[in-house]
Amino acid sequence: MKFFIDTANLDQIKEAQDLGILDGVTTNPSLMAKEGITGKNNILQHYKDICEIVDGDVSAEVIATDYENMVKEGGELASLNNQIVVKLPMIKDGVKAAKYFSNKGIKTNVTLVFSAGQALLAAKAGANYVSPFLGRLDDISTDGLNLISEIRDIYDNYDFKTEILAASIRHTMHIIDCAKIGADVITSPLSSITGLLKHPLTDIGLDKFLKDHKKGN
Ligand code: E4P
Repeated sequence: MKFFIDTANLDQIKEAQDLGILDGVTTNPSLMAKEGITGKNNILQHYKDICEIVDGDVSAEVIATDYENMVKEGGELASLNNQIVVKLPMIKDGVKAAKYFSNKGIKTNVTLVFSAGQALLAAKAGANYVSPFLGRLDDISTDGLNLISEIRDIYDNYDFKTEILAASIRHTMHIIDCAKIGADVITSPLSSITGLLKHPLTDIGLDKFLKDHKKGN
């Protein structure tokens, strides 16, 4: 299972990279804006900076919503670094653009996926990643994890190579549940990843070991 961090914050990306468990990064226009990264040149430079920190795939989302401009913008993003994965919205032109990039050998991540049918189309278009948004489905009282399960079944039935990138992760249990279902990748805020470290018995046990060691010396 790959671990991606879902942020454009360079300090958090460095922290996850230093932990030694990071396989990549996902960003989106909201996450870039949250870091105050605006204007085309700054945005492109920020993607380059992220690629300097991590070894794996870095998803960079297009702003264009029509096929021609998606292809143009995606091509520009992909030319920044071979770690860049062109992130495309799950709309008709996004599917067409995914097929275009797939034919060119450029990696894609089809985002804003909320149904099994959308995930099926992304796979048919040859996307490298499909991003079902778990948390946003949970927010509207719909079972996000069930969607991940459905996509897993469908992809396994036909041996689709598209990787399921569980997105919109809101807490540590989402990561564990995605691992049980067999999501290929999770993309998560740093806090949900570091949450996996925590267990009170670990802290109590370590404290006792250290105290006992001190007594014996
Ligand atoms: C990832 O690719 C998505 O952009 C992200 O996980 C969305 O998460 P949110 O629903 O917390 O904004």
